[in-house]
Amino acid sequence: MKLGFLGVGWIGRDRMRSIVASGAGDAALVADASPAVAEEVAAETGATVVTPEELLGAGLDGVVIATPSALHAEQSIAALQAGSAVFCQKPLGRDAAETAAVVAAARAADLLLGVDYSYRHLAATEALRTALPEVGSIYAADLVFHNAYGPDKPWFRDPALSGGGCVIDLGTHLVDLALHLLAGTGAPVGVEHVTARLFAGGQPLGDRTDVVEDFATARIDLIDGAVLTLACSWNLHAGQEAVISASFYGTAGAVSLTNVGGSFYDFRAARHDGTSSTVLVEPPDGWGGRAAVQWAQRLAAGERFDPGAEELVTTARVLDRVYGR
Ligand SMILES: NC(=O)c1ccc[n+]([C@@H]2O[C@H](COP(=O)([O-])OP(=O)(O)OC[C@H]3O[C@@H](n4cnc5c(N)ncnc54)[C@H](O)[C@@H]3O)[C@@H](O)[C@H]2O)c1
Repeated sequence: MKLGFLGVGWIGRDRMRSIVASGAGDAALVADASPAVAEEVAAETGATVVTPEELLGAGLDGVVIATPSALHAEQSIAALQAGSAVFCQKPLGRDAAETAAVVAAARAADLLLGVDYSYRHLAATEALRTALPEVGSIYAADLVFHNAYGPDKPWFRDPALSGGGCVIDLGTHLVDLALHLLAGTGAPVGVEHVTARLFAGGQPLGDRTDVVEDFATARIDLIDGAVLTLACSWNLHAGQEAVISASFYGTAGAVSLTNVGGSFYDFRAARHDGTSSTVLVEPPDGWGGRAAVQWAQRLAAGERFDPGAEELVTTARVLDRVYGR
């Protein structure tokens, strides 16, 4: 397969290496707003450097997009309309309308659309997927993602390029993970009610549009009565690099995944019964490029549009409600 890589900064470069190493596809074209960055990355694989517009119009087997978040929807639609399947970084759109437009473009072109919800692919998540049906009816979940370093590139804090702050950056992973896992148990995952508080620099965000939120807490009530609580932030005084967890409480037990020792990369899964816990999965686990490689392998196997992409719109709708729109 001939693949194009658009935006080859930190994550774009990492996902290109994962896909090429898997043997699922070749890096045919590379494009970045910075020609120097594109040249450096293309040299790794012998890919040809082109402009972003040339790459989007090339009609390749697939295009992998890892540009600043606010560009994702427009670039994904352009690639799909030119006949390329797409694997895009999260978030796919800045809101549900943008996200739905990309899914509609993939459906119309009958092309495989993947999004890098990488936490779906942890070994710890797989353990939760297996254990969830064994802990009875899930009535509550606690979802936490604090990145105490905060994002390292200035564009993350520019609303025009990021489309939002910690909610669209980190909260999107948590909402996707919870709804995806709960849907996998057969539970109805319709959302009834959402309340949220967003902050910037310790002050309520209110109607400000010149800054993005760096702390958010939300409660998401599902139609079956289950309740999800969500907390996410950048640069919180968390006492460690990251606090990441997803805990699901059921009538016959609970399961959780938690990061280990403040790490962004190491996760443990456990089952809890009353006051005792059983570890299901321990690190290490090389999960980073797994979503990208899985998309490339499905594409190589000839897969076309997957209606499961509608889950992307559901998650985006929840985020819209967290943002109060
Ligand atoms: N799935 C995950 O877990 C995960 C983790 C980290 C980042 N991300 C997402 O990946 C995306 C990129 O993040 P990053 O940390 O790699 O950022 P980055 O700043 O390191 O890389 C972005 C690259 O895009 C290039 N770029 C900017 N505008 C462009 C344009 N119009 N056309 C082509 N290239 C352009 C920049 O020059 C840069 O090289 C973000 O949307 C982020 O949310 C996802």
